[in-house]
Amino acid sequence: ADKTSRYTIGFSQCVGSDLWRRNMLDEMKMELSLHPGARFIYADADNSSKKQVAQVKQMLDEGIDLLIISPNEAQPLTGIVEQIYNKGIPVIVIDRKTSSDLYTAYVGADNYQVGKIAGEYLGTTLKGHGNVVEVMGLPGSSPAIERQRGFSDALLKYRGIHITAQVYGDWLKNNAEKQLMQIQPILKTTNAVFAHNDVMAQGSRNILNKMSLSHHIKVLGVDALPGNGGGLQMVASKTIDASMLYPTGGKEAITTAFRILNKETFSKENILQSLVIDSSNVQLMKVQWAKINNQQKDIERQQSLLAEQREIYNSQQLILNIIVIT
Ligand code: FRU
Repeated sequence: ADKTSRYTIGFSQCVGSDLWRRNMLDEMKMELSLHPGARFIYADADNSSKKQVAQVKQMLDEGIDLLIISPNEAQPLTGIVEQIYNKGIPVIVIDRKTSSDLYTAYVGADNYQVGKIAGEYLGTTLKGHGNVVEVMGLPGSSPAIERQRGFSDALLKYRGIHITAQVYGDWLKNNAEKQLMQIQPILKTTNAVFAHNDVMAQGSRNILNKMSLSHHIKVLGVDALPGNGGGLQMVASKTIDASMLYPTGGKEAITTAFRILNKETFSKENILQSLVIDSSNVQLMKVQWAKINNQQKDIERQQSLLAEQREIYNSQQLILNIIVIT
């Protein structure tokens, strides 16, 4: 018998609409399809920590065996996550964290490292000299805090590089653009922009273009998503100069969830690898993604063929039954 069929997994997502998080959900669904019968409750908090707390409470009322959560901001979600953990319901935090150690497992890249490799990359690219503007994520969200810390730590050893401005783009392109419009004089003496994600990096490039500053200013982002509108395409088209790969961890979150639920061994910290994507390796990454995408399509074709055959088999059974009856 399938042990997994009775489980209900709740997934509380801080925001569901962007490409990165749609990729995360697709990965989860793919992995969930290997556990037919498991229930999956999904809620999108639409960038609101308050809404997210309410949605998690609702999940608790509905009855969940395990919670996966990407907390919008660390502090406001800490209480409810601790409460759930203390009730004995396992909690997997994915990508963003709370301010507490009370969780069962973490899945995602190390955001301090993400900031650090961006700083090191800029240090060598600018040959140790220049002015940098940092466009940060949502204040109080753990990746923004950690990427900022990693970035400034990496730059400590480059004394000729100065962070001349830090603005909050809240992970959103429009907000990044608005904030950069406020610091136009600073942008004129800037050599590079580090944005905490690719959509804000795109916004940064838009503003630099508007000011006709673009060609000599390096722009770095984070995520490096494949496909239309993703960071790989931005790097390939030289809209941005580099992006730090930030895997979504959707698949790993579901495999970890079932390991926990089935009382198998699992690691508390499941750290996914990040790396710099720039013009030197972007083509390779694109080829690899295309290959994975093709394999994915093959799997889906096989699944639909199997379903078709099952239907044919069922209808033949039906005919057999009819024959027996008449
Ligand atoms: C997507 C996103 C990513 C970023 C991550 C940080 O919602 O903004 O672009 O890497 O969240 O949590």
